Amino acid sequence: MKIVTIGGGSSYTPELIEGLILRQKKLPITEIWLVDIEDGKEKLQIVGEMARRMVEAAGLNWQIRLTLDRKAALKDADFVTTQFRVGLLEARQKDECIPLSHGYLGQETNGAGGILKAFRTIPVILDIIKDMREQCPEAWLVNFTNPAGMVTEAAIRYGHWEKTIGLCNVPFSHIEQAKKILNQPEESLFFKFAGLNHFHWHRVWDRHGKEQTRALIDAIYGQHMQNEGLTNIHQIPFYPELVRHLSILPCGYHRYYYLEEQMLAHSVTDFKAYATRAEVVKETENRLFELYKNPDLKEKPEELAQRGGAHYSDAACDLIESIHNDSRKMMVVSTRNNGALTDLPYDSIAEVTAVITSHGAEPLNWGTFPPAARGMLQVMKAMEQTVIEAAVNGDYGAALHAFTINPLIRAGETAKQVLDQLLYAHKKYLPQF
Ligand code: NAD
Ligand code: G6P
Ligand code: MN
Repeated sequence: MKIVTIGGGSSYTPELIEGLILRQKKLPITEIWLVDIEDGKEKLQIVGEMARRMVEAAGLNWQIRLTLDRKAALKDADFVTTQFRVGLLEARQKDECIPLSHGYLGQETNGAGGILKAFRTIPVILDIIKDMREQCPEAWLVNFTNPAGMVTEAAIRYGHWEKTIGLCNVPFSHIEQAKKILNQPEESLFFKFAGLNHFHWHRVWDRHGKEQTRALIDAIYGQHMQNEGLTNIHQIPFYPELVRHLSILPCGYHRYYYLEEQMLAHSVTDFKAYATRAEVVKETENRLFELYKNPDLKEKPEELAQRGGAHYSDAACDLIESIHNDSRKMMVVSTRNNGALTDLPYDSIAEVTAVITSHGAEPLNWGTFPPAARGMLQVMKAMEQTVIEAAVNGDYGAALHAFTINPLIRAGETAKQVLDQLLYAHKKYLPQF
């Protein structure tokens, strides 16, 4: 089995390698190719050497290949995973700072920043698909690149790569949280998630058939707020009345919408203290790469847990394993809705619990949402689809429309200025505009 990882120089790569090593008996891996670009060359070399040491220490003879030649890497690949960031952290900093300097939320997957990240990323994913069509027409594309929901929708609906599945580690954190609170192992609980990437809700049942959603809501949103372990999201407590009214569990990212004012105020404080998430992550990343340089380090370091995407390899590796072995594991993925969420267009991409088979994801039926969630969800999907349309066609009107629809952007003159400033700041990565 040949696995290719685009954005191989990411500090998350040791996480992926660890996940694959842990599943060595279930995956007949022969080669892992880590692909990066000129700007990431140094990172690729350091993290690639680290990956080689990990594989060697595990007594495996997998070939670890490092390259900037994407086409050569993709040749006859079975699985292509993506974890790249167009423009690296410098671009993320602009996504966060420019909106904040105008009093709008700046975040890498939500609001104006998330939209611009999609504009930079979607042309690249479509190019990768062009190469895949030539080099590995049968491969699966496992997308981790944010904004993961929109990038996955672009790959499937515009790139026509049906064998694409999007992943995120947020559901994993919520499952861990529920296991701890209910004091039950995962196999004793049944989870159903539905919505969009970074905008989903879930319900939980125990093995006796009793729904535990309400008990979890009371435990999590009662007197002592318990966080879901997402290190990158400031843990402002949700209003318990609001969650109880919905009677389904929100995800950590819903704070940006349900508590927009507080989340914005907190981000502005960080911004003034030169401590935006991009700046914090840059320091964590520097520390991690110093560790990776140590020739004696052969295991994923603890410090990686300080990144918001920690434990993502469990999702990526479980997915690959379940497709390869037709294990029919239940996982939360971004995939075609196919009617599972009656409130979203049939052929749009939803993030939903699905059975992972050798032919892909079969989403479980969720049905309809209560009106209080439905309206927000539909606005968000319309916004996402408008973003994708703008990203693909370079249509300024569509871009302005996406800004106008996004709930975290106050429409009008300032919004237009923020859009213009962001388009200018990221000009180098936006050939379509
Ligand atoms: P990073 O800034 O370290 O970038 C990773 C690598 O991508 C870098 O080495 C960079 O040089 C490379 N790269 C940039 N453009 C490229 C291109 N066109 N082709 C190939 N490689 C390219 O980023 P990171 O913090 O490691 O995050 C990587 C990506 O994964 C981001 O998009 C991030 O948002 C996403 N992510 C997603 C989740 C999730 O839940 N889905 C979790 C964590 C991270
Ligand atoms: C996770 C999300 C990812 C996101 C990451 C940010 O919770 O699922 O999609 O990219 O956090 O982590 P970072 O450490 O880069 O801020
Ligand atoms: Mn995510």
